[in-house]
Amino acid sequence: MKLIKNKIIAGVTIAATAAFSYTASAANFKMAIGDAAGGTQWELAKTFSELMEKKTDGKVKIDLFPNGQLGNEQDTVNDAAIGLLDFSVLAINNVTPFSPTVGLLTMPYVIQSPEDAVLLTQGQVGQELVDNTIRDAGVRIVGWAYSGFRVLTNSKKPIASPEDLKGLVIRVPRNEIMIASYQAWGVNPTPMAWSETFTGLQQGVVDGQDNPYITVYAMKFNEVQKYVTNIRYIFSLEPLIISESVFQQQSPEMQKTILEAGKEATDHSFAYLEETESKIRKDLQAKGMVITEPANGEKEWIENVTTAVWPKFYSSIGGKEKLDNVLELLGRQ
Ligand code: MLT
Repeated sequence: MKLIKNKIIAGVTIAATAAFSYTASAANFKMAIGDAAGGTQWELAKTFSELMEKKTDGKVKIDLFPNGQLGNEQDTVNDAAIGLLDFSVLAINNVTPFSPTVGLLTMPYVIQSPEDAVLLTQGQVGQELVDNTIRDAGVRIVGWAYSGFRVLTNSKKPIASPEDLKGLVIRVPRNEIMIASYQAWGVNPTPMAWSETFTGLQQGVVDGQDNPYITVYAMKFNEVQKYVTNIRYIFSLEPLIISESVFQQQSPEMQKTILEAGKEATDHSFAYLEETESKIRKDLQAKGMVITEPANGEKEWIENVTTAVWPKFYSSIGGKEKLDNVLELLGRQ
């Protein structure tokens, strides 16, 4: 602990675990993964670590710790920022509290297709968010998992319109934009860490939550949730982050290898989503989940949040103009 404190006070950027050079005989990294093995986070992490091993002729090994074993997702951002953790894969909504401008990616109904998600993460907008996250949170995004739209699940009843939410206790991440979205739909949601969510649902502390089909499946939420509503308010993006201090210790060659492996793992993630999501959805139905489409083509869901939530967060995401530019880029203005 003394060492850690010294490091922070002195502002020294030496990571506790993973310093290595490209020519080192062996180097081990640790990677936290918020979800259980089997989902899009796992697929990104596994692909990235295999690529790193291959590209460095086996010199780099990355140990993967799924299912929140290294702490809840928001804590892994802090740990990486101070160099106690090398990598983490987590949902972007759990990065937003440390780097408010990435809230752009969780503004409800901005991303309306997987292609929109690619356009925003891999173009100029994405690069700006990567730079802001290094500046604000001390972590660098080097890859993305594309996980699909977050659908609403609950254990009580079919939900078609925001009205139906009344009386339900819905878990949300500690993310102001998502909290405000449920408030705009007429309920006060319960912020809860991701690592506590399965137990919260199982014990009835909360009745429902939202996450993509692939995540619902990987986390076995079908065992504690019956009803699904296909709202499409947020497309789930799950970055692979590296501690910026760890990144800066690497040789230029190793940094390049990390960025290349991240890009290839990202491309794989997109293909994996396309191949997997509809199969998983059918499997969840076969396991007893009941799927409801939102009423009126999702009209009330969309109108309530775009009018009440967007204006509240203009300043934190970098101004209304920023959102307008993004909507224009996506061909919607
Ligand atoms: C959350 O709901 O906190 C996250 O989106 C879950 C995840 O990382 O899959």
